[in-house]
Amino acid sequence: MSCYITTPIYYVNAQPHLGHAYTTIVADTYSRFRRLCGETVRFQTGTDEHGDKIAEAAGKEQVSPTEFVDRISGLYRASWPLLSIEADNFIRTTDAAHIAAVQRILQQVYDQGDIYFGEYSGLYCKGCERFLTEKELVDGKCPDHRVAPEAITEQNYFFRMSKYQQQLIDHIQAHPDFISPVRYKNEVLSFLSEPLEDLCISRPTTRLTWGISLPFDDRFVTYVWFDALINYLTGIGYQAGDSGESAESFGQYWAVAEHVIAKDILKPHAIYWPTMLLALGLPLYHRLLVHGFWNVGEVKMSKSIGNVVRPADLVAAYGVDTVRYFLLREMSFGLDASFSSDAILARHNADLANDLGNLFSRSLSMLEKYSKGILPAGGEATEADQHLQQTATQMLSHYQENMGRFQFHRALQGIWELISQANKYIVTSEPWVLAKDPAQQSRLHTVLYNLGECLRLLVLVLRPVMPQASAKMATALGLSVNDPQIADFRHGARWGLSVAGTQLQKTDALFPRMDTAMSGNDVGNTLTTAPQKNMASTEDSREPKKKAKVVGSQGRVAESGVIEFSQFQQLDLRVAEVVRAERIAKSDRLLKLTVTAPEERTIVAGIAEYYTPEELPGRLVLIVANLKPVELMGVQSQGMVLAAHTLIKGKKRLVLTTVSGPAPVGSKVA
Ligand code: ME8
Ligand code: MG
Repeated sequence: MSCYITTPIYYVNAQPHLGHAYTTIVADTYSRFRRLCGETVRFQTGTDEHGDKIAEAAGKEQVSPTEFVDRISGLYRASWPLLSIEADNFIRTTDAAHIAAVQRILQQVYDQGDIYFGEYSGLYCKGCERFLTEKELVDGKCPDHRVAPEAITEQNYFFRMSKYQQQLIDHIQAHPDFISPVRYKNEVLSFLSEPLEDLCISRPTTRLTWGISLPFDDRFVTYVWFDALINYLTGIGYQAGDSGESAESFGQYWAVAEHVIAKDILKPHAIYWPTMLLALGLPLYHRLLVHGFWNVGEVKMSKSIGNVVRPADLVAAYGVDTVRYFLLREMSFGLDASFSSDAILARHNADLANDLGNLFSRSLSMLEKYSKGILPAGGEATEADQHLQQTATQMLSHYQENMGRFQFHRALQGIWELISQANKYIVTSEPWVLAKDPAQQSRLHTVLYNLGECLRLLVLVLRPVMPQASAKMATALGLSVNDPQIADFRHGARWGLSVAGTQLQKTDALFPRMDTAMSGNDVGNTLTTAPQKNMASTEDSREPKKKAKVVGSQGRVAESGVIEFSQFQQLDLRVAEVVRAERIAKSDRLLKLTVTAPEERTIVAGIAEYYTPEELPGRLVLIVANLKPVELMGVQSQGMVLAAHTLIKGKKRLVLTTVSGPAPVGSKVA
């Protein structure tokens, strides 16, 4: 099978922002997914360089349009590799081949009588580069660009769009997937329920010269949309006027064309474009996939409004994989989504650093510790193993279906269900306990194999979304990016393909945690470098008596050791979840815990003799949240974890406290 996927060609009146990045990442992810499925893919993006608003933008900078479009088009082209976007073709409407093909097409449509000369008056929005109907206006203004359109009356050439209206309606009804999600199909059908007007496809050179000359009347240039939409054909060699080879590849790709756009340009893509194709006698594109807007607050992110976020800044702050993951996970394809740096930071820390990052680092560190960094062979599957396996298998089919339907957020949700299941599997299988008992070695090996296999499947499915992180994971698993078990979905999407005996590789954290939004410098930096303080006194505060003293420092401790209720009330006790645990260098007793309650904090706890770092993430514990921060072994501890001090078989033990049922993190304990 072949795949031809396109993005809009973006106007070069200003630099790319997050909205353009989103559409292009969607197309890139989809093209990587289809390649993973073994298909021949052509992915095209590019720039739309003619028309009023480009001419105006060049004028403002006092440079020639050519100089201007070369510069901005270059900026678009240069931004895509920063986002791990790899297009096969970058088309520009100022390319000579495109211009020549557009002129041939115009001549053909003119010769067949589908273009005529006439007069028109209407309301023109430069931002949209089209005439708007009264109905589309909100308070007399264009709803997207928030300016009143200009009333224009002039003589022009028109394309007989109305002639093809019924054929288009029939096609949409006969092909349920032609426009999706379905809300946009309905919008188009509702628009088509009224008679269509013909489309004005020229601009007099007295008003605009920056465009493609009409081949049959050089007093006019081509309307920018008529020129732009044709890029989808010229980019794959339509009317290239050369060998049969390009005609063949044109046919191969055009039959499967899929256009991704946002809802702002639904009308040109769902109405102008198919009627143009009908006039040309070409098959209609296969699918139109329409997404919503990225907003900032309530307002669409847009270059004309100026509230833009630059993709390069985001990548510098969060890394390319986090940006791609965030955009695909946060937006339900078809609906609007809201961008904020808090939202991206939260996804980075919760989904990537905690869920995925922890699973990866815990699994690999246990494989290293308990199996010398070699993937052991699995044995007989218990019920827990089967459950994990089933979750993985379900995820794979759910993933395939949703990636194919552009439901990236759903595909990712499914992947994260497996991640969370695998994290729970670690907690319930307790490899650290199995490791202490030689009789349990085969069970330990099975658990470790299963974790390795989960990671392999995660590499396979995450490749289209996070090309870099997944490559790093593959290397750690001892796989090369071309191994069919992670490079070919048809082969690899099955449980049990990891090969026992594979040598794994050490690697650093996949997604280091970040403390501050939009700051590249603070990445993962929760350690302070201040010298170690006297530990004994702070450690002592963990003893019940001294704890009373802490309270008492603000109140008064009675002789009997009894405190007032008001004194107890000064304690802020909360349910917290351990998201990460690490050893502290040079200390046998201390672990550095990162907990959420629900805001995140670091707590240093003297539990290293009783708990390994691997077994802690995911546990609910009780903490004292309003303890004055102290520094222990150079680490700021913001609070204290409560543990029972007991003797088990004559040996001292600390057992962490927890709640007996589900309680959201941050719940107050009193
Ligand atoms: O319309 N949210 O170009 P354009 C989501 N040249 N996507 C957004 C967005 C936002 N806030 N802002 C922009 C044009 N986009 C024409 C297209 S195609 C033959 C000609 C994305 O530079 C989205 O894909 O205004 C939208 O459709 C496109 O950029 C518009 O880009
Ligand atoms: Mg626009």
